[in-house]
Amino acid sequence: MLVLGIETTCDETAAAVVEKPDARAGKILSNVVLSQVNEHAAFGGVVPEIAARAHVEALDMIIERAIAEAQCSFASLDGVAAAAGPGLIGGVIVGLTTAKAIALVLEKPLIAVNHLEAHALTARLTDATPFPYCLFLASGGHTQIVAVLGVGDYVRLGTTLDDAIGEAFDKTAKLLGLGYPGGPQVEKEAIGGNPARFPLPRPMIGRAHADFSLSGLKTALRLEAERIAPLSDHDVRDLCASFQQSVVDVVADRLRNGLKLFRERHGKPTALVAAGGVAANEAIRKVLHRVAFEAGTVLVVPPAELCTDNGAMIAWAGAERLALGLTDTLDTPPHARWPLQKVRGVAARRSSVDADASTVIQGGA
Ligand code: KG4
Ligand code: ZN
Repeated sequence: MLVLGIETTCDETAAAVVEKPDARAGKILSNVVLSQVNEHAAFGGVVPEIAARAHVEALDMIIERAIAEAQCSFASLDGVAAAAGPGLIGGVIVGLTTAKAIALVLEKPLIAVNHLEAHALTARLTDATPFPYCLFLASGGHTQIVAVLGVGDYVRLGTTLDDAIGEAFDKTAKLLGLGYPGGPQVEKEAIGGNPARFPLPRPMIGRAHADFSLSGLKTALRLEAERIAPLSDHDVRDLCASFQQSVVDVVADRLRNGLKLFRERHGKPTALVAAGGVAANEAIRKVLHRVAFEAGTVLVVPPAELCTDNGAMIAWAGAERLALGLTDTLDTPPHARWPLQKVRGVAARRSSVDADASTVIQGGA
């Protein structure tokens, strides 16, 4: 089964062609990603209008390249998938409308993929990870612990009540004048710093649930920076190291609880799976290994280029859904918000009813 996947929910214009064999890991035939990071760098974050315009300008060419690099033709595709949200609505409209046009012309099925679902299923593309597994999704827009029980069957065990982890890294970098995106810069500075110099808080540690809160940490860091200003290079390194250590401690504590909730509700997970840009952080990866080991499971982390936003994950989620007959009509709407629990699935009809009845908490973007 051959599927084209299109991703435009944030600041990456991406397209890929993925092949899905039966019950095995997938094969990526092409994976083209154009980052808009230079367009947004001057603003210290993603500007939605600039993002949408940049997607319009680049998407046709990116899709053409994805088809050429895969050495296939539009006619040989079995389906066309696009991220239909959650995300910046202008960008989502660009990608979804393009996918609809291609599907209409080719008379092939359209698959409207939830971006978070695509992150959730990437471990099956790379490692054929069987259900059920525990997902830790941490990027610039989302921070969630999710029980992945089947395609379209997701139960959220924890989420952030305010900032996403990547967002906290980005804001820390901005405060310290380190540029955008902040995560890699903060990690680089932290290497030479003293993580014990600043007594920053560890929000939520010790609480029984698996939720996160990061805005207090961000504020505490700002107050420390203001207290000792002007900052030397040495101070910046120590602030980064102290911040990162606090995040690492929080992640470990929250995930221990998340895995405990998973076992109580769903039995033993086949793996702890990490996804999202934050999973590229070495200190965080190290603690994830430890937490997975303590819980008697293994850690699966897809390669960095598949942890961050890309078209292959959309194509793969599209292929998984297509294989189950979960296709979408051409009037499918784009979504700015789209919690994972609202995703339609075969086994998930029960859980989507549950989700409707319970409080819907934000799914992230
Ligand atoms: O998944 P992603 O590429 O895009 C979305 O936000 O959906 O994640 C980007 C986020 C940014 O906030 C970035 O600062 C963070 O992931 N990030 C990192 C690292 N690399 C990227 N955070 C901490 N350490 C890193 N090495
Ligand atoms: Zn993402």
